[in-house]
Amino acid sequence: MRVLLTGGAGYIGSHTALVLIERGHEVVLLDDFSNSSPEAVRRVEELTGARIPVIEADLADRSAAAAALEGVDFDAAIHFAGLKAVGESVVEPTRYYRVNIDSTLALLDLMRERGVTRLVFSSSATVYGDPEYVPVDEAHRAGVGLTNPYGWSKFMNEQIIRDAQAAWPRLGAVLLRYFNPVGAHPSGRIGEDPSGIPNNLMPFIAQVAVGKRERLSVFGDAYPTVDGTGVRDYIHVMDLAEGHAAALERIEAGVEVYNLGSGTGSSVLEVVRAFEEASGRPVPYAVAPARAGDVAEIAADPSRANARLRWRTTRSLADACRDAWTWQSANPDGYAA
Ligand code: UD1
Repeated sequence: MRVLLTGGAGYIGSHTALVLIERGHEVVLLDDFSNSSPEAVRRVEELTGARIPVIEADLADRSAAAAALEGVDFDAAIHFAGLKAVGESVVEPTRYYRVNIDSTLALLDLMRERGVTRLVFSSSATVYGDPEYVPVDEAHRAGVGLTNPYGWSKFMNEQIIRDAQAAWPRLGAVLLRYFNPVGAHPSGRIGEDPSGIPNNLMPFIAQVAVGKRERLSVFGDAYPTVDGTGVRDYIHVMDLAEGHAAALERIEAGVEVYNLGSGTGSSVLEVVRAFEEASGRPVPYAVAPARAGDVAEIAADPSRANARLRWRTTRSLADACRDAWTWQSANPDGYAA
């Protein structure tokens, strides 16, 4: 297939581009580089030997995006593009809704005009809110008690895609609910390159280990979990990328939703220890107050994706820490250097 990756230069997009090319697909990337680097694309080209067409455009600006995509044919789209900083979304809700919703609307209209019937959407486990039971399966209620505009925009986009599919039954859409993507390509040539202070745990730990930051703040140690710190389901970004390929290759008309996670929860302190072991560096930390909006524990029940997509995670948290460390130590300033 020839696959359009919106936001294809980003963390998950770049790893997915690499996996798709290695599986024999062609990719076209669309990105506005507002939170990504052309250097990531160059490195995917270097790793794969492929030449990757890149369209620089803001998908939320529908006329600009349509003009930029004029004459660019594709059989499927994977829609990664969007803003993703939870805290920022609380401060700038209208920008978050505008970018995250307008981009989906523009893409859906463009696909319908062009007759492109395959869509994979980057959703998030955040749509489950504070889960009623763990591990969560796809039947768990979604869109209840979400605590920030970023999370709502993911849930709203799921609904928009469902409604678009109901109105255009030929559309085949897959909603992928990611758990916590971590790690990097084992080469260390591509990885996660957050701008400013990382919001997420693993990139923060990696910057502490490499000496860029003094210590990690552990957000809360009195949750009802194994050691009192928050528990999440960390999934290696290469496993996640393979999940996209598997979903794309099995798309049928209709809407399907899949959890992409490992099925195993790890606490913040377990991640700290795994990273120390993988890197051989100490990761000093101090306990800080719990972060507003955080849940105590969430992990995926990935059995639907395991069965129907014939996909499962094959990489451990230790593998993810090792690969994140390879990336971080070789690229302490990300793609900037
Ligand atoms: C967060 C978002 C989620 C989003 C995901 C991907 C929130 C509430 N949720 O997930 O919507 O889809 O990122 O970007 O922000 N932690 C620390 N210290 C830190 C950073 C994190 O202790 O400096 C802890 C958190 O409290 C949590 C765990 O580490 O228990 C994972 O945090 P993080 O990586 O930010 O992911 P989520 O909060 O699960």
